[in-house]
Amino acid sequence: MQSLYTNGLEHLYDAMYQTFINYEEEYLFYSTLLNKYKKNQVLEMGSGTGNLAKYFVANGFDYHGLDYSADMVALASQKLSKKHFIQGDMRDFKLNQTTQSIIITGRTSSYLLSNKNVHNALHAIYNNLENQGILCFDFIDANRFIKSIKGGVNMEHAATYKQKTYYRESFLTPTTSNNIMFNWNAKYYEVTEDSKKLITQDDSEVRAFTKNEWELFLYLNDFELIECIDKPSYMFDTYVMVARKMAQKNPNVV
Ligand SMILES: C[S@@+](CC[C@H](N)C(=O)[O-])C[C@H]1O[C@@H](n2cnc3c(N)ncnc32)[C@H](O)[C@@H]1O
Repeated sequence: MQSLYTNGLEHLYDAMYQTFINYEEEYLFYSTLLNKYKKNQVLEMGSGTGNLAKYFVANGFDYHGLDYSADMVALASQKLSKKHFIQGDMRDFKLNQTTQSIIITGRTSSYLLSNKNVHNALHAIYNNLENQGILCFDFIDANRFIKSIKGGVNMEHAATYKQKTYYRESFLTPTTSNNIMFNWNAKYYEVTEDSKKLITQDDSEVRAFTKNEWELFLYLNDFELIECIDKPSYMFDTYVMVARKMAQKNPNVV
């Protein structure tokens, strides 16, 4: 899924994902959690083209988004305002001041391909959260999803946005990497009544996790797991974890 985030294809991502994901519902889900823990300040990591940001900003949250792709950041800044977005890497970032909460949505955690990536991200998140700050993130549940694609599975998704119809053909298959990963080979088309034009092809390896893995990663990085929510969502079986920053017990982990 890397090539969709840059070189002009961020516009294709923006169009297609507004059909795949109901961002208003996503907002209601995450804002309800943040309100429950009395957090009005939020940093979204992997903020993409700002589709979720729009709702946080409109509803008075003190919102910032961080994304690795300069092109995604530029498009989000154009749609909302530059002041909300920064280019950065969730595995190594430093805000000017700590924030009350951090969210990672849209299965962006799938890009933490190695355990070192996970520890580095949790270490950076820890350092950028205020004491008792809240971390919410979703992840692809390996126990369900990887079983469902054993042997390889084809999936098709269509999206219509601003009178244009796009089509994605995916082939998903588990790999034999060190972690629980799968190959996602995707072809993107623009479809009209009489043609189907290939726009781009994207082959990447992404990661799924078990709940137990995240429980341990969080514990080792001094987060207390407070909720684990089974969240129905498009394409993948997904859990959302809610964790609280605790006093540091073991500073030598990373
Ligand atoms: C699946 S998209 C999700 C975007 C957005 N959250 C949404 O729901 O539309 C993943 C995003 O994570 C970003 N990303 C991938 N690796 C990253 C990293 N190491 N640090 C920050 N952002 C990253 C990508 O550039 C992309 O915008």
